[in-house]
Amino acid sequence: MGLNYYKIKRNVLKARKLVIQGTSAAGSGHPGGSFSMAEILGCIFYKHLKYDPKNPTWEERDKFILSKGHASPGLFSNMAVAGYFDTSQMKTLRQFGSKLQGHPDLKCPGVEFCGGSLGIGLSYSIGNALAAKLDGKDQMIYTVMGDGESDEGQVWEAAMAAAKYKVDNMTVILDRNFIQQDSYTEKIMPLDEELVGDDLTDMWKDASRWKTGDKWRSFGWNVIDVDGHRIEQISNAINKANQTKGIPSIIIARTIKGKGVEHMEDNPQWHGKAPKPEFVPIIEQELESQFMIAPSIIAGDMSNLEKEVRRCEEGRADYIHLDVMDGQFVPNTTFDHTKIKELRPHTVIPFDTHLMINDPVKHVGDYIDAGSDIITVHAEVCDESSFGEISDMLESNQVGIGLAINPDTELPEWSYKFIPLLDQIIIMSVVPGKSGQKYILSTHEKTQRIIKQLHENHFEGYIEADGGVNLDNIGACFEDGARAFVGGSAIIGQSDVRLIIKEFRNQVLHSRRQLLIKKAHNLGGIELVNQWIDLHVVGKKKDSLVQIAKELGFQ
Ligand code: DX5
Ligand code: ZN
Repeated sequence: MGLNYYKIKRNVLKARKLVIQGTSAAGSGHPGGSFSMAEILGCIFYKHLKYDPKNPTWEERDKFILSKGHASPGLFSNMAVAGYFDTSQMKTLRQFGSKLQGHPDLKCPGVEFCGGSLGIGLSYSIGNALAAKLDGKDQMIYTVMGDGESDEGQVWEAAMAAAKYKVDNMTVILDRNFIQQDSYTEKIMPLDEELVGDDLTDMWKDASRWKTGDKWRSFGWNVIDVDGHRIEQISNAINKANQTKGIPSIIIARTIKGKGVEHMEDNPQWHGKAPKPEFVPIIEQELESQFMIAPSIIAGDMSNLEKEVRRCEEGRADYIHLDVMDGQFVPNTTFDHTKIKELRPHTVIPFDTHLMINDPVKHVGDYIDAGSDIITVHAEVCDESSFGEISDMLESNQVGIGLAINPDTELPEWSYKFIPLLDQIIIMSVVPGKSGQKYILSTHEKTQRIIKQLHENHFEGYIEADGGVNLDNIGACFEDGARAFVGGSAIIGQSDVRLIIKEFRNQVLHSRRQLLIKKAHNLGGIELVNQWIDLHVVGKKKDSLVQIAKELGFQ
């Protein structure tokens, strides 16, 4: 399908919501393992897998095999988003006669494998991959396995067989979420260095203990380790795995069970349990409230931007914000596409290119070639015709489409027809030109007003807050509706980027918890607030929620 990073993210969100709707309607099912593999399936379905949803048995298709079949809501939701059937069918999940059962079944056109019994998907995939070779087909097999099912001996027999037969037209992804039905994998049957003690979740976060890859390497596999919730890392790993010839490849994706919904995250209870219907609107709001931190590297050492990119990497930034200034649209000059091209090999983190230049339509091609993942141009220097040209170019090159407005600019009339296409809108909260300026307070009111207009006009992208964002105002920017946050002086200008990004995230998390508690209160008063809080049993989340509820007068 070949969608850009932002549209993959958007589809992952749609799929996650469908998982919640489907399992909640069924009253049972497996949201935890569906969510740990959500980004993995997003990359497979919307970027790498070759298929035709209107012709599921197309001879030339690639095959996706979900070995951990209990996570079928995750599979079905993506099949719905991809167009195999209408999304409304997710509500028939697990119903008698529905083609969407608790485990994938060939009755559902497009499903390639009945994944009820665990441990056999890899063997089945190897058979398919070898058959494709015998038939001389240019076909890839993508297989997602669970770490729980790695307890099965057949997995390791298959691992040996794949190496022996040099199965290289198959890419396996291990959803290493660390939890299986009854408990943590490391308690049931350790895959990594054995963890002993009570706080396994915390111990597991220590990367030096991750040894699963060594097991696969010793079986003769090409092993790639990734953060399984980062689209850019998964996609890059799939490309590398697909290109590796002569040996089989496995991507070990470190994931979080239940990822996206705080009370489900890292909690073995949510392996196979459905959310109650009264929580669905709150969970949906939580899913819609995912956010991204985007350090702006012009606030660092302009003579060594490679180092600044490294600091973003170390700080686990979601995007790298690249402020291009041409000395005409704004008085300053920063760098242009040649520098971006030089920086590109240093990271796979998405490049969020903000063009503060005149005549963007003339230059946008260079910024696409340089490797931007999204390009945002200013409304002040576009019109309907030039922006149309820009958005066509971006779309056909799988680059995200962004539009920015200055503090004294409103969304122009001509922009309305493009709103459903936009991946991002930057509402500038300083007069563009340099980092280190003060946030213009009236931006809060402006953002809230514009977001209302955008939603009436089918906007599905993200609002990015850019200019003077810091720890004191990021919570308010989130409340306005911004979901991506640029930080120049407040992030890159600080010595410990990792720490400050963590603090940014915690601040937004706090505001998000407030928002959800208010939502619970609106829907069901103090009783629902308390029930919501009680769901949060892992870690220190509950204490924070109780505190927030008290502050809001709900306890
Ligand atoms: C302003 C730029 C911003 C800015 C961010 O012209 O578009 O991205 O550099 O820096 P701070 O966060 O310091 O305002
Ligand atoms: Zn910017």
